[in-house]
Amino acid sequence: MKKLNLAVLGLGEGRSIISAASSSNYWDISMICDVNEELCLQMQRSYSIPAYTLDYSEVLNTKEIDVIGIYTPDHLHASHIIQALDAGKHVICTKPLMTGLSEARQILRASERSGCHVMVGQSSRFFEPMMRQRKVFQEGELGELATMEAYYNADHRWFLEKPWARSEGFKWLFGGLSHPIDLVRWYFPDVSEVMAYGDITSNGAEKGLKHEDIIHIIFKTSMGRTARVSGTYSCPMPPEQRDSGMSCILRGTRGASQADYHELRYSEHIEGSEPRIIHFDREDFYFRFKGLSHHAGEYQNYIDYFARCIESGETPLPDLKEGLVTVACMLAVDRSLLEGRPVRVDEILREENLGYLMERQPSSRDRRKLFPGKQRRIKVEHG
Ligand SMILES: NC(=O)c1ccc[n+]([C@@H]2O[C@H](COP(=O)([O-])OP(=O)(O)OC[C@H]3O[C@@H](n4cnc5c(N)ncnc54)[C@H](O)[C@@H]3O)[C@@H](O)[C@H]2O)c1
Repeated sequence: MKKLNLAVLGLGEGRSIISAASSSNYWDISMICDVNEELCLQMQRSYSIPAYTLDYSEVLNTKEIDVIGIYTPDHLHASHIIQALDAGKHVICTKPLMTGLSEARQILRASERSGCHVMVGQSSRFFEPMMRQRKVFQEGELGELATMEAYYNADHRWFLEKPWARSEGFKWLFGGLSHPIDLVRWYFPDVSEVMAYGDITSNGAEKGLKHEDIIHIIFKTSMGRTARVSGTYSCPMPPEQRDSGMSCILRGTRGASQADYHELRYSEHIEGSEPRIIHFDREDFYFRFKGLSHHAGEYQNYIDYFARCIESGETPLPDLKEGLVTVACMLAVDRSLLEGRPVRVDEILREENLGYLMERQPSSRDRRKLFPGKQRRIKVEHG
């Protein structure tokens, strides 16, 4: 397979994709870009990268670059994606895809015009416990998925040292909760309504945070299922032996499973089998920088998956449309926090003339994918 040429924009978390691509057989890194030259020089030296630039247009104008990895601050993603698509480049964009939908139609048009893919780098899907959990679910071992919980809690006060994290535009809803919200949409793509409550802690406010650092959300799907997501970001954490910072729990009619991200731990209990807990002994692959703020194994998994999709002509997921509906879910949560009422996801999408992204009701084929194993009648919501 011909290697893909990657350029990376934004060299904070961008370091993780640089490390991943540098140790992959599918990728060459041609260029890196950041407005901070010191960082460019540091990354260039560490990973022997042929070229760096402080000017994004140089990346856009370099013919041999196939894919741009976008790792700039959240509120800049939309414009960086549009420019990449207009230059005929595929895009891998870190989460959150965007923090609003005003540029969504422009991005959809740019993607159609260019024929290029946009994949959202939803790293949490690509950790080993989450991948194992998905496989067991898809094999129908858990029966019908009755409900699920996902959470991402972390003491991220250190993150508020970054000036953009203290700006009006930064929200943990997008920066942190985009992970568990994406996990819910992975299993329940038809989330139709949200109700959220939140608060800002004195710890967060003292550091200059402007929006909630505690958020609890209930999701409802068009088929009447419910799911729960929580996130807290400025308080100490319980010991990891007892809890996980990020976790996804599936509760099915025949079994339950839990995937814990940093702990690389997967637990399941399936009727008729002994409960089991697996620890994946791959710390050196996932946490190669020996800290919890940057990690690269899951990036390796998703960029290699992206490359295999390009080779086989498949669409890498989560794609632009899936990502945009997840953004709409986050915006529905934001409105629910503000107005204290349940908010429908299609209310948000219709305001941007994107209602068609949710128009298709789940078919019986979708239901079989959602609820593998034994089927039962499910009342489908219309409207
Ligand atoms: N697990 C994950 O998937 C994960 C983890 C952490 C961060 N992220 C995401 O990565 C993105 C960056 O976060 P971070 O923690 O690295 O922030 P950061 O501030 O450390 O890094 C952002 C970098 O972008 C550069 N930059 C800003 N504007 C630029 C421009 N116009 N052109 C070129 N470079 C520019 C900055 O100089 C900085 O080096 C965010 O969207 C964040 O949500 C994802």
